[in-house]
Amino acid sequence: MQNAVDRNGSYRNFMNVCALHLNGTPDYGLSYNCWELELRFVTVLHSEQIALGERLFEYIESKTTALGAEIYRQPVSEYTCSVQADSEKQRFFRDSLLCVGLSARLPNPGSYFTEPLSGVPILLTRGSDGIVRGFMNVCRHRGSAVATDCGNARSFSCPYHAWTYDLKGQLIGRPEDQSFDGMDRQSHGLTQLHVIESNGLLWVCPTPGKSEDLDAKLSGLNTELAAYDLGSFHHFDSCIIRRAMNWKLIVDTFLESYHFCVLHRDTICSIFYDNISAFDSWGDNFRLVSARRTIGELKNLDPKDWNILPHIVGIYVLFPNTVLVWQLDHVELWHIYPGENDPDHSVVRVDLYTPEPAISEKSQQYWKKNLDLVVKVVQEEDFPVGETIQTGFHSMAQTHVTFGTNEPALAHYHGSISKALAQS
Ligand code: FES
Ligand SMILES: [Fe+2]
Repeated sequence: MQNAVDRNGSYRNFMNVCALHLNGTPDYGLSYNCWELELRFVTVLHSEQIALGERLFEYIESKTTALGAEIYRQPVSEYTCSVQADSEKQRFFRDSLLCVGLSARLPNPGSYFTEPLSGVPILLTRGSDGIVRGFMNVCRHRGSAVATDCGNARSFSCPYHAWTYDLKGQLIGRPEDQSFDGMDRQSHGLTQLHVIESNGLLWVCPTPGKSEDLDAKLSGLNTELAAYDLGSFHHFDSCIIRRAMNWKLIVDTFLESYHFCVLHRDTICSIFYDNISAFDSWGDNFRLVSARRTIGELKNLDPKDWNILPHIVGIYVLFPNTVLVWQLDHVELWHIYPGENDPDHSVVRVDLYTPEPAISEKSQQYWKKNLDLVVKVVQEEDFPVGETIQTGFHSMAQTHVTFGTNEPALAHYHGSISKALAQS
């Protein structure tokens, strides 16, 4: 257990959890204020919190959960078919906006990061004018990557022959310029990509010339995302995970609480109600809120005084491949991509964002342990099972798997995948 100061200045205990998962009872020897994080949301969408709390109590009392209308038969081929994998790559990872993180990945003018995981070499910069721009990370001379990793820069000098580009992607330097007569610099800047920075989230469309309407994509979820004030968060660190399972199986990991007291019986079972979740959707996007066992504390309060955030974990799927996890004292973003050997492999970048910058050694230790825990639990409990599922899919044991009516988020997610592919 950890102590945290609430906004009334008193101490209370909370368990440090990761994603839908909690690993034991960590003791970091330090505390962290989480009231500020709660306060941001509580003041903006309090009526939504009351409605959510009432639904969760109803589920707990009637020993049920959000239910779909019928069971969903999911073809195994969706996870194993290379033709489908190619279609997904085009539809979801080339032609559409991808969320690549919070604004905090580009904290200052001159900040940049490279993002190769979608399969396209992407470079994002924040110019001295504060504007975020996106490019193919491909030199216009002979194609080398011009930037690596992330950092702060005024320009990018290609490591091969030193062609140099500014933060707006313009070609500003070219050694032996006279050898390129007839190739004007102006039209040989880095190839631009469509980028949107909105409500603290960064989006990029990985194909030059392609774009998508973000408001239409989010189907009204923007209002709730805006309430979290995601633009004020700070990027602590990220980590990359590669597993031998289809990318959608990684997403599936987050989409039900039915497994909590089986797969996680020694970890999160004692913290969360098993199979108690509220489900809501906005177009293809959706939210799954699971109740912690502490939620009963609210029973003694007037609903107008409820703050349910310490008593839930909120999972938002920004369709199709980003999972935003609202936790007690931080936000995680899971960016999930097909791996090199798609459809049987995936690669994930997990970002941890904090409400305050991690400046002191103590806070750095705290957040590092948080991120380590996030990774440890999924790596040791969820993903090993996912890999057996991927192997089982190839065994021809069955043509379909089944999502019960108690797994509505899974049915919604895979229904949306099928619908999007059918329309493309
Ligand atoms: S490939 Fe970039 S300068 Fe030659
Ligand atoms: Fe899990």
